Amino acid sequence: MPPAGLLDALDKDELRSLFDAAIPDALIVHDHSGRLVAANQEACRCLGYDPDEILQLSVADIGREVDLPGAQSVWTKVEPGSRIALQGQHRRKDGSLFPVDVHIGVLDRQDQRLYVAVFRDATEALRESEARFRATFEQAAVGLAHVGLDRRLLRANNKFCEILGVSRDELRNLLSGEGEAALAHRSWHEPEFEAALLAGKRASVSAERQHRTPDGRSIWFNVTVSVARNDDGSPYYFIVVMEDITHRKNLEEKSEEHGRQMDALMKEQLIAQTAAALAHELNQPLEAIAAYSEVALRAMQAESGWSEQMQRAVLGCNLQAQRAGQVLHDLIGQLRTESNDKQFFDLNALVRDVIDRVRTRESLNFQVGLNLDPALPHVLGNPLQIEKVLHNLLRNGLDAMLAASVPEPSFTISSHRGADPLMAEVSVQDKGPGIPPELAHVLFRPFRSAKKGGLGLGLSISRSLIHAQGGQLWLEREASPGATFRFTVPIADEH
Ligand SMILES: Nc1ncnc2c1ncn2[C@@H]1O[C@H](COP(=O)(O)OP(=O)(O)OP(=O)(O)O)[C@@H](O)[C@H]1O
Ligand SMILES: [Mg+2]
Repeated sequence: MPPAGLLDALDKDELRSLFDAAIPDALIVHDHSGRLVAANQEACRCLGYDPDEILQLSVADIGREVDLPGAQSVWTKVEPGSRIALQGQHRRKDGSLFPVDVHIGVLDRQDQRLYVAVFRDATEALRESEARFRATFEQAAVGLAHVGLDRRLLRANNKFCEILGVSRDELRNLLSGEGEAALAHRSWHEPEFEAALLAGKRASVSAERQHRTPDGRSIWFNVTVSVARNDDGSPYYFIVVMEDITHRKNLEEKSEEHGRQMDALMKEQLIAQTAAALAHELNQPLEAIAAYSEVALRAMQAESGWSEQMQRAVLGCNLQAQRAGQVLHDLIGQLRTESNDKQFFDLNALVRDVIDRVRTRESLNFQVGLNLDPALPHVLGNPLQIEKVLHNLLRNGLDAMLAASVPEPSFTISSHRGADPLMAEVSVQDKGPGIPPELAHVLFRPFRSAKKGGLGLGLSISRSLIHAQGGQLWLEREASPGATFRFTVPIADEH
């Protein structure tokens, strides 16, 4: 800013040239009636008038559809020392229109208030912003479309057509057409959606939809619809944003299927273990009955005087006890988990997956320090069953840490070649209170639980699952802090 002293010293011509040359924008000064009292060279150039001609004009001549009383009420709102910004259209001498950004300030003179309007041709800025908008619209990673209130497609980007598997023209016909295909493509345009949006009750509506593309692919998309409105608030068109969620949906389905398989495996194992435990408990008394009745029978046969009826009764007792023992024996044999679904797989990758899945399934957050040997060869086993074991061990550790209010539940999981080089060994260590000493020696027996609501089957199931792989599962006795469980799985024969 020039020092005030200099401004005072400038003569009229110098002030005029400052007015014309120093301001890059167009500038006009008008009174309250709208009559122009001054304009700089840029204003003349922009509007196409000579300096003399322009001073014959009113703002109504250079603005498009100017409502003078309305404009005057806006001008009166401008405070001295401040300015207001407006956007509009100006008319050139040749009648052509162009968009403008206008700033209006006031100039209070002794006798009257004048208004100083500085404006700039916004054609270029508008073109640029339109180009930016078009590029954003076209290159967006989501599908975007504008659909008229009459359901005609106004514009759609490539991604939108790509998701629905149709060309832009096909989409245009489908959206405005009738029939099933048209309805399917307009699936977001449901009457209740439309009504809520148009009435302004909802700013936007979203839904997940499944759709079959013309080439037969099944896709899932998330669609969000909102309404673009005119300046007066009336609905103009629908804005449709579409996101392809097929991949996520497929993963969800896979994970649900996986969860179902795990649950089924657990149920199977629960039944098997319960029956095996019962069989085991009953086996001993039955063997005892068989042995005692055999002794009694021999004694009866050696001594005379025992009625044949009595001897037959004791013999029957002996045979039935043996039969019951055999039935139990067969049952245990049948229940022994034979993992016939073995495959070669990366145990380290399984450990990582299981941690993620347990986090999601149990919706619990916990830290895991991983110490996985990258050189560990693939193992041979049933990944689902090994996952179940890891799941049980993690669940037990979490239960123990939560019960002991450990502030940051965490595990250390390691993998390496076992003492037997043909086995891979995994250890799972938690930061809980460890195994109560009185439980340590019966830990793997069924129905031994120190937990409220615990069945006491997790570890016994886990052990039989690991045995089915040809491995071992045990508790590390000396470990501290917390509990450390280790298990082994055979390494796949590399030859
Ligand atoms: N990491 C551990 N820290 C402390 N105690 C443990 C740990 N793991 C197991 N236990 C103890 O061993 C018991 C038996 O565990 P097991 O998994 O067999 O049965 P459960 O967890 O009680 O019941 P569920 O049948 O639901 O698994 C538990 O009740 C618990 O007292
Ligand atoms: Mg358990």
